[in-house]
Amino acid sequence: MVQLINVENISKTFGDKVVLNDLSLTIDKKEVVTLIGSSGCGKSTLVRCIAGLESIQKGKITIDNTEVKNVKSVAGKIGMVFQNFNLFPHYTVLDNVSKPLQTIKKMKKSEADELGRELLKKVHLEDQASQYPSTLSGGQKQRVAIARALAMNPEIMIFDEPTSSLDPELAHEVFETIRDLAEEGQTMIIVTHQINAIKNFATRVVFLSHGKIAAQGDVETMFGKSDNEELNKFLKMVDFDDLKE
Ligand SMILES: Nc1ncnc2c1ncn2[C@@H]1O[C@H](COP(=O)(O)OP(=O)(O)O)[C@@H](O)[C@H]1O
Ligand SMILES: [Mg+2]
Repeated sequence: MVQLINVENISKTFGDKVVLNDLSLTIDKKEVVTLIGSSGCGKSTLVRCIAGLESIQKGKITIDNTEVKNVKSVAGKIGMVFQNFNLFPHYTVLDNVSKPLQTIKKMKKSEADELGRELLKKVHLEDQASQYPSTLSGGQKQRVAIARALAMNPEIMIFDEPTSSLDPELAHEVFETIRDLAEEGQTMIIVTHQINAIKNFATRVVFLSHGKIAAQGDVETMFGKSDNEELNKFLKMVDFDDLKE
């Protein structure tokens, strides 16, 4: 196993509010880590710190042994997909994927379009290439966002509640895409409450509580019969069918 991300004793505060409290976490290449925990426990803040979008007050984060200092320091290494797709409304689906390749990766339009079409194929949207985002369903928009993030060939894909604004059917198609990526060995961090959707491919589940890791382990350990009361209470609250069903 090759270590990719090392979060070492980080603390993050907003004013006098401690959001991440001396938290450590390592993630190896090809791991699919699911981050769970109650609203406000610090999940988004943690992934934003890893992506260089937030500064930390204590500790250190490295990716491939390079310290994460800001967004620039992780440029190209991380692809992020958020709850609200953030597509460019005035670009076609293909241009949403292809334009960043031209501006950031300095690819020729023809090459960028070709790669863009390949990526759209991967998320099963090749037939929507010339449409505008407004004509797509939420699930399709999210898959375009995934294709766009993949275009940068990131070492890590981070999903922060990618399906929380979607109906169950549409959430399902987004998770199918995420599962395909897992099968290809893409390293991923997925923040979600939709535990049933990830239980077949997550390699590790990390339960965050009050800015600390309260429990972690494989799917069986975490969703089977954990002796962590707080985790069990949390699992009762979210959409979760028992693993044995
Ligand atoms: N930019 C910010 N300024 C002040 N407080 C923030 C900011 N971002 C997040 N917080 C606070 O940090 C805590 C953790 O937030 P967040 O990481 O978004 O939690 P989660 O994603 O687990 O719901 C919350 O109490 C939230 O209000
Ligand atoms: Mg959040």
